[in-house]
Formats: sequence, structure tokens, C-alpha cells
Amino acid sequence: MIISIVVAADLHNGIGVNNGLLWHIPADMQYFKTITTGHHVLMGKNTYLSIPDKYRPLANRTNIVISSDSSFENEGAKVFSSIEQGIDFAKSNEEKEIMIIGGGKIYEAALPFVKRIYLTRVNHTFPNADTFFPFIEKHKWHLKSSKLQLKNDSTNYDLMFEIWEK
Ligand SMILES: NC(=O)c1ccc[n+]([C@@H]2O[C@H](COP(=O)([O-])OP(=O)(O)OC[C@H]3O[C@@H](n4cnc5c(N)ncnc54)[C@H](OP(=O)(O)O)[C@@H]3O)[C@@H](O)[C@H]2O)c1
Repeated sequence: MIISIVVAADLHNGIGVNNGLLWHIPADMQYFKTITTGHHVLMGKNTYLSIPDKYRPLANRTNIVISSDSSFENEGAKVFSSIEQGIDFAKSNEEKEIMIIGGGKIYEAALPFVKRIYLTRVNHTFPNADTFFPFIEKHKWHLKSSKLQLKNDSTNYDLMFEIWEK
């Protein structure tokens, strides 16, 4: 099973503020949906709770939530107390590629296990960011593909859809 990260980050690796996103980018939401649909998605409790009610759990995906709080239960999500347990659960369901979808704490802890990163680089710096994606050590990773999408009527920022592999 491939262990992958899906993340959108600004030019300084900012990914969030006040337990929400820094932007509203429909093109990236569509990309996220396309690459995660049909897969197990693993996330931290904060990220799960940051998803608006009407989209939670994320449809057509097996939602795995990591929390050390044994009383945290949520209909529609499988809750585990460690990332390893969540990964093992996906493996036991014969998942081919688990998608780790944040947030900052989970990305940091999961990065050593990860073989692929779907990174949407948002060509802007948000000074108010309070949550960050870890620095990608370029000597450990290679850029497998990248696709530029220039800002347009529905997207305020130039985007670079990158796939990194280790
Ligand atoms: N731009 C993007 O692509 C993107 C994607 C996702 C999220 N985000 C943003 O990221 C922010 C949320 O990130 P965050 O760092 O605050 O929270 P998070 O990583 O989503 O969740 C943190 C919580 O998950 C649990 N957890 C994390 N690591 C664990 C571990 N190793 N073992 C057991 N439990 C663990 C803990 O819950 P307990 O306290 O219950 O133990 C912890 O408090 C939001 O602003 C969100 O919008 C951005």
C-alpha cells in the first residue's frame, strides 16, 4: 500500500489559520476530491472537526480520524489513537493508496512513512497562517510531475499541482 499526503500550501508552507483554510479555491477542492475519492483518508481530529457539517464525513471515502481522546467518537469516521493503527486498518481493507490529508500535526508525524506527496502550491504568502506543512528536504524527494494553473475567474491565485515521490 502506498502512503501518500495530499496538501495545499502557500509559498511559506502555510496551510491553515484558526482551524480553517487560508483560502477558498474551488479548483483545488475539485482536485482534492478527484484524487481522494474511493480511498481511505486519514486526518487529525482538528482537521476532521474543521470540515463543515454538510461535507462530513467526506463522501465516498473511508474517513479515518486520529485522536488520543478515547471518548471521541463520530458517526461516519473510524477513530484510532495512533497513525500506525489507522494505516494498518486501511491495509487490512486492501487499500492500494491511503491519503493522509492533514493537518499540521498529522503531516509532521506521518511524513517519515510517506512515499508520495500531492502538493498544491498556492502562489501567495498568507502572513496570518498559524499552521504549516513541514519543509520538504529536496535531496530525499524528486518532483515526478507539475502542472501550472494560472489564476482565472474561479481561482484567485496561480496554482502549481506537484507530485513528489521518495
Ligand atoms: N491546506 C491543507 O491542505 C490543509 C489540510 C488539512 C488541514 N489543514 C489545516 O490544518 C489545521 C489543523 O491542523 P492541526 O495541526 O491543528 O491539527 P490536526 O493535525 O488536524 O489534528 C491534531 C489532533 O489530532 C490528534 N493527533 C495528531 N497527531 C496524533 C498522533 N500522532 N497520535 C494521536 N493523536 C494525534 C490529536 O487529537 P487529540 O487532541 O484528540 O489527541 C491532535 O490534537 C487547520 O487550520 C486546517 O484547516 C490544511
